[in-house]
Amino acid sequence: MHVGAPAPRPAWTPAEGAARVRSLFARTFGPTPEEVGVWSAPGRVNVVGEHTDYNAGLCLPVALEHRTFVALRPRDDDRVRLASAQEPGVRELDLADVAPGTVDGWPAYVAGVAWALREAGHPVRGFDAVVDSCVPYGAGLSSSAAIECAFAVALDDVAGLGLADDDAGRATLAAACVRAENEIAGAPTGGMDQSASLRCTAGHALLLDCRPGLSPADAATGVPFDLAAAGLALLVIDTRAEHQLVDGQYADRRRTCEEAAAALGLPHLRALADDDPGALDVALDKLTDDVARRRVRHVVTEIGRVREVVALVDAGLAHEIGPLLDASHASLRDDYEVSCRELDLAVEAARDAGALGARMTGGGFGGSAIALVRAADASRVGAAVVAAFAAAGLTAPDLLLATPSGPAGRTA
Ligand code: GLA
Repeated sequence: MHVGAPAPRPAWTPAEGAARVRSLFARTFGPTPEEVGVWSAPGRVNVVGEHTDYNAGLCLPVALEHRTFVALRPRDDDRVRLASAQEPGVRELDLADVAPGTVDGWPAYVAGVAWALREAGHPVRGFDAVVDSCVPYGAGLSSSAAIECAFAVALDDVAGLGLADDDAGRATLAAACVRAENEIAGAPTGGMDQSASLRCTAGHALLLDCRPGLSPADAATGVPFDLAAAGLALLVIDTRAEHQLVDGQYADRRRTCEEAAAALGLPHLRALADDDPGALDVALDKLTDDVARRRVRHVVTEIGRVREVVALVDAGLAHEIGPLLDASHASLRDDYEVSCRELDLAVEAARDAGALGARMTGGGFGGSAIALVRAADASRVGAAVVAAFAAAGLTAPDLLLATPSGPAGRTA
């Protein structure tokens, strides 16, 4: 590493993650390891296509090597007992009592997945389970989707549903996780994070087309994205500025988009990003509210940037996507207004130190930025960002490298 650069936060190996949750399970519920399986699911970063998923748009996430691990033992009643390495104590609930507004905190993600699978008619019963994770919490890297998706594959497995066995079944699991997050955890997010965690494959980004009604095969396409072979690295800068999607800002952006689409007589804003290149200008002329105009412009131009990034990556030109990442950040900062001081600083410092392009990733209002760098420059760029935060008197950011990794599944 470059002098002064903190080492990027390593991902746990599958064996390490499994050992951690098995040990926590034994300490919490007693030593019965033979009945206890281990499943895990990754966090994600989005390469480009931000705040497009709930507008039926396009996005391009990759799964991280960093995963959330779950050790779980099925029960033959409807009781759920949960423990986390990140919090003391055991939380208990009964699946029959789960409904919107009934479960607080992280157990809502877990109970929500079991609830959504039961709502869809699947015979899911209770369980004892523990969770531990090396996906940083609250960093905009989908720690909550990683919990949901780890439990989704665990419950699928112990109930013998077989949904995780193919991509169409995984799309069904992702939909259950989205219901869990929207209805039980109360965060009105789109579906990108859950699809990324359940459907990404190693060495690939996942091009998601979020139009409703597409077949699973048409809605998600693996895009080969071998950064190492291209001599590139994707540096993730967790600004440590806490990000919280349950607050009103995300819901507010979503509502503005839906109202703008309705005012334009469209089912969703995606309709402005297909076929007719003049459609955006016509729509902007019709909208009278300046905020709505800027939100719409972000969504439509961002969908275009996803197409351009995919075309470059497909042509073996991943090193040329930097300006599109920069343009995405500017649009999120100025038109969508979801950046913040720490994200802007991370992006500027990374670029000044030679990053090919940089942008905030995820929902925004804190969380993480990504910087595309030549692999040999990763340490220097990381060190420069850390130095810029120190000079600004901000908490030191955490760094990690995004290695496009595989999806949720059984680990041990
Ligand atoms: C969060 C949400 C996603 C998506 C992104 C912004 O990560 O969970 O559904 O909307 O923000 O692209």
